[in-house]
Amino acid sequence: MDSLFRFSALAEKMQPSPIRELFKMIQRPGMISFAGGLPDPAAFPVSAFASCANVLERDGTKVLQYGASEGYEPLRAALFDLMQKPQALGYRPGAEELLITSGSQQAVDLVGRALLDPGDVVIVEAPTYPGTLHSLRNAGARFATIKCDGDGMCVEALPELIAAVERESGQRPKLIYSIPTFSNPSGACLSLGRRQRLLEIATKFNIPIFEDDPYGRLRFSGEAIPSIKSIAGDSPLVIYASSFSKILAPGVRVAWTVADPKLIRSMVMMRQGEDLCTSTVTQALVAEYCAKGLLESHLEHIISVYQTKSSAMQKALVEFIASESAEWHEPEGGFFFWLHLLGRNSDEVFHRAIEENIAFVPGHSFYPDHDEQVGPTNEGSQYARLCFTFANSNQITEGCQRLARVLVQGDKNP
Ligand SMILES: Cc1ncc(COP(=O)(O)O)c(C=O)c1O
Repeated sequence: MDSLFRFSALAEKMQPSPIRELFKMIQRPGMISFAGGLPDPAAFPVSAFASCANVLERDGTKVLQYGASEGYEPLRAALFDLMQKPQALGYRPGAEELLITSGSQQAVDLVGRALLDPGDVVIVEAPTYPGTLHSLRNAGARFATIKCDGDGMCVEALPELIAAVERESGQRPKLIYSIPTFSNPSGACLSLGRRQRLLEIATKFNIPIFEDDPYGRLRFSGEAIPSIKSIAGDSPLVIYASSFSKILAPGVRVAWTVADPKLIRSMVMMRQGEDLCTSTVTQALVAEYCAKGLLESHLEHIISVYQTKSSAMQKALVEFIASESAEWHEPEGGFFFWLHLLGRNSDEVFHRAIEENIAFVPGHSFYPDHDEQVGPTNEGSQYARLCFTFANSNQITEGCQRLARVLVQGDKNP
């Protein structure tokens, strides 16, 4: 017998996450990593968060118990307040519109499983977050990709893309997934005009939008732009998700979704067959952190840290990288620079870069595979994602210098 386990068709065709695999290659001394999308560990509010552990003494009998699938009540209360802020939704969602999840990765997974049948098509930005491709792939999705530029998704191309998908597959896409504010990986922010137009098109074709917004509060320059969910007002069309991973710490694994009560109900039932509820212990710690008023001052702190790091990366890229080697847009927030390596293959550049002890994520990781795309295909072989939040400012400068050396070597030996 070949194997004791007869794996499911899904497990047989599953590929490891490209970014998580990269981590194994770049764990060596001297390596400067722009690869992982990790917050700055030096900016974690370690003592302030530790001081919130008093909630265990105070409310331990509740906090150590199983919790409601919808989320721990004091954290839900904090989130209603947080969502009311103008920088978030600008209104207080209804009680049945909110669900706390174990990371926003789980929100994507639950929405995928609540809405998709195998073979259904989801429109995603090209490039997009690979974790979403992974989750939605698990639900059997195929992907139609829409190009992006410095202002985010090229929404004017949407009606033609929807028509192309209908022609090719005989079905209308079921969902539009977007990271409109400081996208992972492109760093781009969808302009207000495009947000409004996206809503008009989605309304006309009756396709819900999943607005994934883990980076929206991390703006360090430019004018704030309202979330698509807040522009949509009463419309149930927009599913909004955000997370504490980038604004507090990913180790807490706490995120939330605001959506139509019917969808929230379906997500709740899905998760009851999955993890029952998000850890009550971490929800209580995060709730205590918010109740003590610590989140807003922490946000101010990390925004200033990330602004400094982003400026350091912009300065070093301008200084060291020849304008004929790469082009990019300077981000106004978030975690990432997205480099177009002109005329170069980023996988090939990546392997040379590893030899020079500098790591980034090659662009192809942010696109669905060719065989799972419906309609016109897109691919990212000339792009590289550089995360500026994890390395310190000296490493950022040194890392950009190393990358510049790699690009020059490559130019000499094509
Ligand atoms: C766009 C996007 N969505 C979701 C996630 C997952 O976040 P979480 O840690 O909340 O699961 C990430 C993490 O990098 C992300 O960049």
